[in-house]
Formats: sequence, structure tokens, C-alpha cells
Amino acid sequence: MQLVEQYLRDHADRFVEELKTLLRIASISADSRFRGETRQAAEFVCCQMQSAGLTAELVETAGHPIVYGEWLHAGDAPTALIYGHYDVQPPDPLADWVTPPFAPDVRDGYIYARGATDDKGQMFTHLKSVEAWLTSVGRLPVNVKVIIEGEEEVGSNHLEQFLTQHKARLQADVAVISDTSQFAPGIPAITYGLRGIVACEATVRGPRQDLHSGIFGGAVVNPANTLARLIGLLHDDRGRVQIPGFYDDVAELTPIEREGFAKLPFDEPGFQENLGVAALGGEQGYSTLERRWARPTCDVNGLGGGYQGEGPKTIIPAAATAKITCRLVPHQVPETIAASLKAYLASHCPAGTTLEFTTWHGCPAFVFDPTSPFINAARAAIHEAFGVAPVLIREGGSIPVVATFREQLRVDTLLLGWGQNTDNLHSPNERFCLADFHRGTRASAHLWQQLAGVRRA
Ligand code: BES
Ligand code: MN
Ligand code: MN
Repeated sequence: MQLVEQYLRDHADRFVEELKTLLRIASISADSRFRGETRQAAEFVCCQMQSAGLTAELVETAGHPIVYGEWLHAGDAPTALIYGHYDVQPPDPLADWVTPPFAPDVRDGYIYARGATDDKGQMFTHLKSVEAWLTSVGRLPVNVKVIIEGEEEVGSNHLEQFLTQHKARLQADVAVISDTSQFAPGIPAITYGLRGIVACEATVRGPRQDLHSGIFGGAVVNPANTLARLIGLLHDDRGRVQIPGFYDDVAELTPIEREGFAKLPFDEPGFQENLGVAALGGEQGYSTLERRWARPTCDVNGLGGGYQGEGPKTIIPAAATAKITCRLVPHQVPETIAASLKAYLASHCPAGTTLEFTTWHGCPAFVFDPTSPFINAARAAIHEAFGVAPVLIREGGSIPVVATFREQLRVDTLLLGWGQNTDNLHSPNERFCLADFHRGTRASAHLWQQLAGVRRA
């Protein structure tokens, strides 16, 4: 380990420079205008894997390419399947960034850029720890297979096909993903559960085209009014989702889990203050951590329709659209929830309007056995690098591949987040603490050593 530790210290600055190069590439998977950049990011990641000592190649999909690499010379030792994503969320609203999203800037120990923590910076820690082992020691204590994809932020729609096609080649004992967060500054975490998601879009259509609201208002049903009414019907005044059957399959929290959440040192006033809200809100009868990690939600993510420009304009819009996501918990089924939402909205559309409904993507929630020996290995590695033992948490975000790994490859995932929830992921001024980047890289290097000692079940 000493050779590896020394290598990490000696090359720390170059790691940051290489991360900056990756952060300069605007790999926005959702926006087809950035197709070229997205591919360029894949190529850069592939080169990084090769210079780390892995064999690596670009795998084409119907969408953005997957980068696949491996090093399989550790004989009988366990095999770790590392996953990350090189694509990023759109950087809007651009005006809110202090420095431009694709011009990485280091201020006060943080690197600021879109993708800094989600997931370029976090994913990079594993590539660099692998490089450190293979360059300084000449081998890794475990076998590694690495998948870095470019469509996580749009639902990983083409990844499942790759996983099912290459099931045999991708066999592993445990998957490792750093794409979550620490519990709080100074409190690293192992995440044993994530929520699932289903992402939909609902458009209410009315008249053939926008109409003068004086001539026609009062005589035709307004699609924007209707959409607002439909959205209002999603929740009751206790924060419960009103879609029929929404809670039917929900796994209730066990008393032991609720106690575990309650014991965590959660700074609720600080959490609230950071968000700039005067009060927190959600489903009554549940704590904030319960609501975020283990209760399902239904949220509007974007809303449009009618005139959005400056000044007034008097029209009845022809259509109005809402982007809606539901966060899911075990054992809700994404397709079932989408169908219930669609039916609920359609049943409340008045005559004179029609509903158009699209489901973009979905994945189920995931909970990992917190007593697994792999968790102990990760705990020891994190303790070594961060100086404190991690806490066990669940989180509210979603990573579609985690469920696919279990279903297709029968492999469970270690979710080891090095970032913070306050690092502005998906928001303006996304950042990653450089000390966390380096600690994460060290923890990763120790993880390979620790995993080598885990006996297969
Ligand atoms: N890295 C996030 C997920 C995440 C962040 C989990 C923080 C836990 C804590 C990931 O890139 C992400 O944003 N996922 C999407 C889901 C996807 C299907 C669009 C999400 O959760 O919105
Ligand atoms: Mn991510
Ligand atoms: Mn993300």
C-alpha cells in the first residue's frame, strides 16, 4: 500500500489537471447538439483507462457510446465491476454560474464545473486508484471490469442491452459506484438504498391553435387551466399522492430502520437554511430523512404552455405541458405507476381537451443487504482514507444501473459517495471538494486491497 500511497501523493496535481480536461468537454447527453462533445468525453475516458493500464474500448450503442475496460490478472481474487458516467446534466440556467460550467475553476479548495461531482470527478477517483496500483505495484489485488456510460442522466436506456448481451463477460462479485454523496461534511457514508424513478410528460391539448382570450375565453376549455387543475389533484393537503393505487406496493419502513435514520446526526436547520426556504414540507407523518430516502413522491419538474415572453398577451393556449417524475421505493413498479398516473390525469381531463402522455424512462428502487462482507471491506477502506468510519444511509436519488446489475448480473452494488449533497449537482455552480477527490481516490485504492480479503459466499 505504501507504494500506492506514494504514487497518489506524487501525482495528485496531475490528476486534477486531467480531471479539468474532462470537465472542459460539454458532454450533455440530453441535448443532441452536444453529440460530438459527448463522444469526445467517451474517447478521453477511454484514453485515461488505457494509460491507467487497463485494456479499454468504446462500445457503440443506439445512443451515446459506453467505455468498457478491464484488468483480469488477479487470478482467484474477487472481481469488482466499477461503474460511472461521463455524461452530465444541462448547465442551465447559465446566468447563475459564477464561472462558466465548462471552464473548470478552482476556488477555496473546490473545483467548479458541470459534472465536477456528478459524476466525472467521482468516477475519476477509481480510474486514478487503478492507475496508481498498476503503475506503482504493477498489479491490482482484485480483478476489475469498468463500465463508464454516457446516458445515465437520461435514464441509461441503452445500457441494459449491453449488460444482457455481455452477461458472461461482465460477471463480478460486487459492483462499485461513486455517484452518491457523503452524509455531511466529515461524515462519509455507505449508501445501501436508492429510490427508483419514473419520468413522464403530460400534454393537455385543446383548440387547434392559440386563440384570442377575449373572443373565445369562457367558451372553450383552457388547456393551461386544465393542466394546473390536474397538477393540483396530484396531492391532498397532507402531502399524500392522490393517484389511485400509488401506495399499494410501497414497502413501509421498519421500526429498526426508522430508529437508524433518527440516530443519524442530521442537521435539519442547516439543511433548510442551505436551500433558502422558510420551511420544509412533504408527506405528513414522516421525518425529513424518511421523506427523502424511503417515501415515494410525485413532482413537477417543468411546466410550459401559452405565452412565456415579456409583457402580457391575451390568449387561450392550444396546449400546456408538464414534465413529471415520481420517485419510487421498494416494491413499486415504474411501469405500473406511470400507467396509474396517465389514467388518473386522463380521467380528470374535461371534454374539449385531450391528454397526450409519454414515459421517458424508469427504474425501480434498490436496497442492499447492510450486513454484507463487501460493506465491511468498504467501511475499512473509507475509515482508512477519511479518518472516520462511514455511516450507513439510504438516499433519494436514482441510479438505474443498480437495479439492472442485480436483475441481469445478480450482483449487488457498493454505493460509495465522495461528494456532498451541497455540491450543487444538477444546479448552477456544481462543485467537488478537491480534498474529497483525493480522499476518495485513496479510499478507492484501499478498497481494492480490502475486497481481496473477502471470501465468496
Ligand atoms: N448521481 C445521481 C444520483 C444521486 C445523486 C443519487 C445523489 C444519490 C445522491 C445521478 O446522476 C442522477 O442524477 N440520477 C437521476 C436519475 C436518472 C434516471 C435521470 C436522478 O436521480 O434524477
Ligand atoms: Mn450521477
Ligand atoms: Mn445526475
